[in-house]
Amino acid sequence: MATLASDGLRAAATPGLRGRVAVPGDKSISHRALILGGLAEGETRIEGLLEGQDVLNTARAVAALGAEVEQRSAGSWWVRGGNWRTPEEIIDCGNSGTGVRLLMGAVAGFPIEASFTGDSSLRSRPMERVLGPLRQMGLSAEASEGGRLPVTIRGGGLKGISFVNEKASAQVKSAILLAGLSAEGRVEVIEPAPTRDHSENMLRAFGCEVEIEETPAGRIARLGTHRILRATDVEVPGDPSSAAFPLVAALITPNSEVTVANVMMNPLRIGLLTTLREMGADLDYSNRRSIGGEEVADITARTSHLRGVEVPAGRAPSMIDEYPILAVAAAFAEGPTRARGLAELRVKESDRLAAIAAGLRACGVIPAEEEDALTIFGSGAPPSGGATVTTHGDHRIAMSFLALGLASRAPVTIDEAEMIGTSFPGFAELMQSLGAHIENDG
Ligand code: S3P
Repeated sequence: MATLASDGLRAAATPGLRGRVAVPGDKSISHRALILGGLAEGETRIEGLLEGQDVLNTARAVAALGAEVEQRSAGSWWVRGGNWRTPEEIIDCGNSGTGVRLLMGAVAGFPIEASFTGDSSLRSRPMERVLGPLRQMGLSAEASEGGRLPVTIRGGGLKGISFVNEKASAQVKSAILLAGLSAEGRVEVIEPAPTRDHSENMLRAFGCEVEIEETPAGRIARLGTHRILRATDVEVPGDPSSAAFPLVAALITPNSEVTVANVMMNPLRIGLLTTLREMGADLDYSNRRSIGGEEVADITARTSHLRGVEVPAGRAPSMIDEYPILAVAAAFAEGPTRARGLAELRVKESDRLAAIAAGLRACGVIPAEEEDALTIFGSGAPPSGGATVTTHGDHRIAMSFLALGLASRAPVTIDEAEMIGTSFPGFAELMQSLGAHIENDG
């Protein structure tokens, strides 16, 4: 199989995708395993870590803050936690909002100073959503104009907080819980719309008390009084957000049957699967089991005739990273698909709502973009394709439009592919192994 260079890539009509693959480890769990391992007393072994650029940046950051971090073999990592210290250099989190926001929360608990930056996409993303509550807890923080990176924080001596997570951001919740590990008093996050609970689950696995209470105001995640972390082993299941690409590609490409093994099925992460089934997707779950406290399954997707559906706003937190690939499925469906509650998509790795709409238009699909909603008018027939899609440096836009190109009438080119490695190293090669016609552009 050809090794693919990282400039543009082109995806062309594929007669069928067939085979069984495993996708890399979950990105959210990988960041958290390194950070919690770095905070815990003792040695943490991590198996199946996602070795994408985002997570490697977090590994470097945790080491710069005073933990020992080693890669023992592919996917297998070892961390010895300790008291964090002021790093010698500015911490560069690259493209990763999760990395920088969780690390700022973790650093906030220590009486140290640290500065953070990132690439041009991350430097344009809002940090005040995390700095606001952390300041309430006692953090001193200086951000660049508009609450952007670079940011310098000085932590220690924090007090408790009761915070309502209006933006339904798991990163904000996680930053508060991590800062709360060394805060005095009650630390709780109230979620009117519950978000992914990996921080709560993993804090518990590391021996910290975390209570969950369902109330009329929402789900409350509250730290107990025992907040010391003790090292443990972490096994990282496959990332459902990465599995989404080969699965949807199989649904829209004729003569396809693809199994993705070992996919995490956390209920707060699988809104896309629910939506695809409502659209008529032929998806089977087998071999359900538990890995590292998370439910996993092997998922098989077969070519399907999809129908347009309404995707409720309340489902957004459980599929927040999956709207680009949902839009691709919707482009092949019969009838309109309308998704609401998408304001957060405007502040992801790119303005994803705008990038999805522009990419669809270029490929001959009609979208209607509103401030926080998107309608895609699928005709039930393959779209024309035949365009170069601008990715704005966004890995999920890149992978989504490559999937579209496998089943559109003319090939689809993406302008840039290197950033796919932030979350899904080896994506193009994995798709090729299933039979995908993906090649270098030019
Ligand atoms: C993540 C939370 C989500 C998601 C991101 C990963 C996490 O971001 O988009 O890819 O690991 O907590 P928000 O918390 O900003 O919604």
